[in-house]
Amino acid sequence: MIHPVVKYGNEVLAKTAEPVTVFDGDLQKLIEDMFESMYAAQGVGLAAPQIGISRRIAVIDITTGKDPKARIVLINPEIIVTEGQQKEEEGCLSLPGFRETVKRPLRATVRALDRKGKEFTMQGEGLLARAFCHETDHLNGQLFISHLSTLKRDLLLRRIRKMIKAGEW
Ligand code: NI
Repeated sequence: MIHPVVKYGNEVLAKTAEPVTVFDGDLQKLIEDMFESMYAAQGVGLAAPQIGISRRIAVIDITTGKDPKARIVLINPEIIVTEGQQKEEEGCLSLPGFRETVKRPLRATVRALDRKGKEFTMQGEGLLARAFCHETDHLNGQLFISHLSTLKRDLLLRRIRKMIKAGEW
């Protein structure tokens, strides 16, 4: 089932999500729904709060569905090692229409549980490192705009407020 993606301004995006402790059929269904919703929105990553569910689950596929082996499920993820730096444009399904240059580590190692509850670690580089960091931020109530300068962030938020007023958000 495809869930609509909630946008900036919805309080669920600003909350710290709850850890997952039960790895049952409902969780498997939710994970499938998250992939489906992410592909429908043409994203490379989606965190559960973005479909209104405040739990520590994220799905990533930087091939946008082209390679079935590229599907990654992160449950209760933590970034444990970072290395280097990259500066690239970043967007978010919860901030449609906005892309900004965001500084991120070039390499990031994430420790997480898989969909069955088994712990694993994985190193990502480039876009994958960016996705690990971006999605983990979501589970801590943070959007990429928290990494922008105050000036840039205020400009962006002013534009969003205008859109909200005009009923375009
Ligand atoms: Ni996002």
